[in-house]
Amino acid sequence: MPQAILTCDPDSVDLARHELKEAAANAHIEEILSPGVLLVELGDSFWEFAEKWHQQPPIFVRHLCPVQVTVSLHSNPQDLDDLLQAVAVEFNELIDPELSFSVQTRILTKDYPLKPFDVNTALANLIHESTDAPLDVRKPLQILSVVVAQNPPVAYLGLSPTLLNISDWAGGMRRFMHEDEQISRAEFKLLEALEVFKIELPVRGLALDLGAAPGGWTRILRQKEQYVTAIDPARLDIRLKGDDGIRYLRMTAQAYLKDEPDFYDLIVNDMRMDARDSARIMVSYATFLYPHGAGLMTLKLPEEDRQPVLKQTFDILRKAYVIAGARQLFHNRSEITVYLKPTKR
Ligand SMILES: C[S@@+](CC[C@H](N)C(=O)[O-])C[C@H]1O[C@@H](n2cnc3c(N)ncnc32)[C@H](O)[C@@H]1O
Repeated sequence: MPQAILTCDPDSVDLARHELKEAAANAHIEEILSPGVLLVELGDSFWEFAEKWHQQPPIFVRHLCPVQVTVSLHSNPQDLDDLLQAVAVEFNELIDPELSFSVQTRILTKDYPLKPFDVNTALANLIHESTDAPLDVRKPLQILSVVVAQNPPVAYLGLSPTLLNISDWAGGMRRFMHEDEQISRAEFKLLEALEVFKIELPVRGLALDLGAAPGGWTRILRQKEQYVTAIDPARLDIRLKGDDGIRYLRMTAQAYLKDEPDFYDLIVNDMRMDARDSARIMVSYATFLYPHGAGLMTLKLPEEDRQPVLKQTFDILRKAYVIAGARQLFHNRSEITVYLKPTKR
């Protein structure tokens, strides 16, 4: 049966299993290689299966890659020779020389003698020299995924078009550079969401940030030249003071609704509250979103019964929005991020 490796948040394995079954009834998890990294049997061929998720992406699975070759290892530096040999024999023929490629290695075992960088570099050099395919680590069109697991030490290798992997990043792990001016870790969630959902912000747009404190999302939106109305009963970070592009209203989102809000191109909502309550507030705000506008919100999910809560929340949101995207991002913890477009009025 065709195998693949699927990655999700370690606390979302049950939800990922559910999504796997929904896509192919006879697919199942064969082994948990490390928290959130699952070796699965697909039922369908990788291409058939991955195409389904490409058309309708899952929420909780953040990365998928095929397993076409399994290499037994010995946990010593000579493993690299075995990996090079396997790539030379099995993959050089499969690489499309016209398309850019990259090698993405994840090592799931502690104290393994090789680092992902060593494996990526050695295998990429071999592929480039043998096929002439251009190496592009930023935007590759095809990816050779290598996952090294232990007990017994083994490497799973698979080649796929990047767009079938759900994420362009190894294991969906999108990391951003830390900036000294960073106000909150939440900033990474917004950066990742803008990238994953391919959201283009309008030039000097008007944004409403609900649950803005301490102000990380407001800072990112200002960096992207948006004028921001920041709503929160808690205080914004002092560093945002004096920025004329920020209007800070120290009140709840419910209070601002009664205060004749303006109209916005973008409404973001990272409020810490029950997902359904937050969705109801978002629906009330839909009237104040321009028809071309968009909404982006995090949904804080309970530890138990996440599936029914999610369904109820989506049903509420659909009263005013089309759900254009939903994903448990790498920077989301027990929450997911949802991208909304207002329904035509
Ligand atoms: C996770 S923090 C937001 C972090 C923010 N996105 C950032 O990047 O700094 C959640 C915020 O929601 C706010 N909040 C909770 N209930 C609210 C409500 N009813 N109206 C407005 N803000 C609310 C809290 O005060 C808290 O500051």
